[in-house]
Amino acid sequence: MGFSDPNGPMIYKGIYHLFYQYNPKGAEWGNIVWAHSTSTDLVNWTPHIPAIVPSQEYDANGCWSGSATILPGYKPAVLYTGINTQNQQVQNLAVPKNLSDPYLTEWVKSPLNPLMEPTATNMIDPGSFRDPTTAWLGPDGGWRVSIGSQSNRTGMAILYRSKDFVNWTKAERPLYSANDTGMWECPDFFPVSALVPVGLDTSINGPDVKHVLKVSLSDSLNDYYTIGTYNSAMDTYAPVEGSVDSNLGLRYDYGKFYASKTFFDSKNNRRILWAWIKESSNADDDIKKGWSGVQAIPRTLWLDKSGKRLMQWPILEIEKLRTNQVDLPNKLIEGGTILEVSGITAAQADVEVSFEVKELEKAEMLDPTWTNPQTLCSQKGASIKGSVGPFGLLVMASKGLQEYTAVFFRIFKGQNKYVVLMCSDQSRSSIGNSYDKTTYGAFLDVDPLHEKLSLRTLIDHSIVESFGGGGKSCITARVYPVLAVEDGTHLHVFNNGADSVGVPKLSAWSMKKANIN
Ligand code: FRU
Repeated sequence: MGFSDPNGPMIYKGIYHLFYQYNPKGAEWGNIVWAHSTSTDLVNWTPHIPAIVPSQEYDANGCWSGSATILPGYKPAVLYTGINTQNQQVQNLAVPKNLSDPYLTEWVKSPLNPLMEPTATNMIDPGSFRDPTTAWLGPDGGWRVSIGSQSNRTGMAILYRSKDFVNWTKAERPLYSANDTGMWECPDFFPVSALVPVGLDTSINGPDVKHVLKVSLSDSLNDYYTIGTYNSAMDTYAPVEGSVDSNLGLRYDYGKFYASKTFFDSKNNRRILWAWIKESSNADDDIKKGWSGVQAIPRTLWLDKSGKRLMQWPILEIEKLRTNQVDLPNKLIEGGTILEVSGITAAQADVEVSFEVKELEKAEMLDPTWTNPQTLCSQKGASIKGSVGPFGLLVMASKGLQEYTAVFFRIFKGQNKYVVLMCSDQSRSSIGNSYDKTTYGAFLDVDPLHEKLSLRTLIDHSIVESFGGGGKSCITARVYPVLAVEDGTHLHVFNNGADSVGVPKLSAWSMKKANIN
């Protein structure tokens, strides 16, 4: 079975719904339907029958990504992309058949579909018109929705307006566009509070509100976002100064993390982020294994106090799976040390650690040309000794360390400040060779002179999700060890720098298995 983009996440009458792109016929991508699962805690899930499947001329070749909107009268509605018999991308509406069914298992398509389609007059490229956002209300009481597109490599979020959610008119200008960024898939547009770290409902705007526009760039298969202001009277979005709208901008995650989508959790006043983490194995292996693609652990997301970036943290509920806590007493770890953390199921674990660096004088100089953190992490992997760092965790490690995935920090002396590099190094993750073992990296905006460096890593066999600095930079990796499986898996903390580093806190938990499909 093939799993990909999260679709239409929402909470309705206390039940969380997640739909997702799904191939019921095989591990590869194809025959796309909207599969459907529900949950009351975002951790344990109940599968249902697929909610939306090809059945009409306008979606005969696939029911692609889209989003949910809760309409007045407390009625959920879904806009999704249909691939019609001519292989054109069009936008369709579906609503629950029976609102008193708590699981909303059956969905009916609007008899007026398709509601938005490429025509000779609107000049939309029929092969680049997909993935409607959650709709929002403007000050005039009308709906707006944005759809991913491109025109001659100018990526754009096209805007449509509607009074009744059925008749949609294309706005003259897109919500936003950027030259030479290619196709924008799965745009996501939502408000964040500039004052408090809570989530906001999608139609909220005001003086203390910033907006986020996320786009999934099909060129690089990475999710990028800008922080900006949305002028709802003019229907224009503009990134704040310094927020970069290209593949040089901010990413939710500097590893594998694509086609993400948020929703407002009205029950807990938070905004939650879902994303597709694809495999790093080859297609033949996926077919042999019988499935491919997973969803990231849902993350709560809010605007950092600095206003410069979003912060992300695994939803609190995931801590329900923690069991069997192990704590390391406050320790100084000398350079060249690897210390095992035993007593937990290392192949399924949650680890929180913080590092304290006392001596930074000897930190390696950062060459001003070293601007790409991923390249820097690839060149200076965990096995390359440094001055201050590398230090961090070795996860999914085999007994003799033939296999491990290293998640670590390294500190450099920059022009006028210290620079912290965060890496997830997969180069030694498996003795098998048919995997993509790319190393990932991000700069982490913390001041190591005055702040501890914190790292949280969630480990689930082939998935390693890491959160640096309390969620300032995140990196997700897929790994396929051959030796480090189940009970043969170990966890270590390490320091491969010259200087010793303090570990004031390390807690690790075994994680119970959640009920999933
Ligand atoms: C992103 C994407 C979307 C599309 C869907 C098809 O991964 O390509 O643009 O709607 O997947 O499955």
